[in-house]
Amino acid sequence: MNEKLYMVSLGPGDVELLTLKALNTFKECDAICIPTKSEDQSFDKSISYKIVSAALELLGIEKTIIPVYSPMRFIQQDWVNEAEIIVQSAQEYGTVCFVTLGDAAVYSSIYYLLDIIKKKNFELCNSCEVIAGVTSFSAASAEVKKALCLGDEELYIKPINPRFKVKRTEILMRPKIGMDTTSLGEGDFHTFENMYLEDAKITASKIKKVQKYMTLFLNFAKRD
Ligand SMILES: C[S@@+](CC[C@H](N)C(=O)[O-])C[C@H]1O[C@@H](n2cnc3c(N)ncnc32)[C@H](O)[C@@H]1O
Repeated sequence: MNEKLYMVSLGPGDVELLTLKALNTFKECDAICIPTKSEDQSFDKSISYKIVSAALELLGIEKTIIPVYSPMRFIQQDWVNEAEIIVQSAQEYGTVCFVTLGDAAVYSSIYYLLDIIKKKNFELCNSCEVIAGVTSFSAASAEVKKALCLGDEELYIKPINPRFKVKRTEILMRPKIGMDTTSLGEGDFHTFENMYLEDAKITASKIKKVQKYMTLFLNFAKRD
């Protein structure tokens, strides 16, 4: 059986803030793994379950739902157990989704899980696709009609209760065409040019000179 894993961002809670890509992935998949904080594997308190149920209703389809006990204790063994369920589900059903609230890029467990899945089933991790979604703070900004950043302002995302030294990922936007990027400093850079357009290009480093206005840089936090 062909095994395939999608990590699907659910947005902040409103089914209408799910992406078309997320809906299409639900249509195509054989099973959906949904995290639950309840030890009895029920979905009584699960916001993710509510969103997925609403999406399946909207699509007029039913899918096998697999509960993934996720106590959110930041314990490695919990992630190992969760990863095991995902890997087994892919073996049993083929194409599976694992869902995460908001956008997967922001404080989601999916990258802890992928690190573990990589060791258990390299191909499943390697072929995995992450579906981007609407973050809670993008939605919050829209709710109150106030921009997160304007003109020369920065956007600052901060963990309120950090357990370790706080590290930083920088998102660098609105470059000048022709600019030399030396001033952006060094780090774990990726460059994204004309994403999703015909000439889209992703470079796993910092390009030396900006050629297009639609260029953004991610300088990822240094992780072990
Ligand atoms: C583990 S983080 C996940 C963030 C999520 N991946 C995102 O893109 O927004 C959970 C935190 O996101 C914020 N959050 C997520 N969804 C929210 C919502 N519907 N309303 C308010 N805050 C929310 C809260 O600060 C919450 O403690």
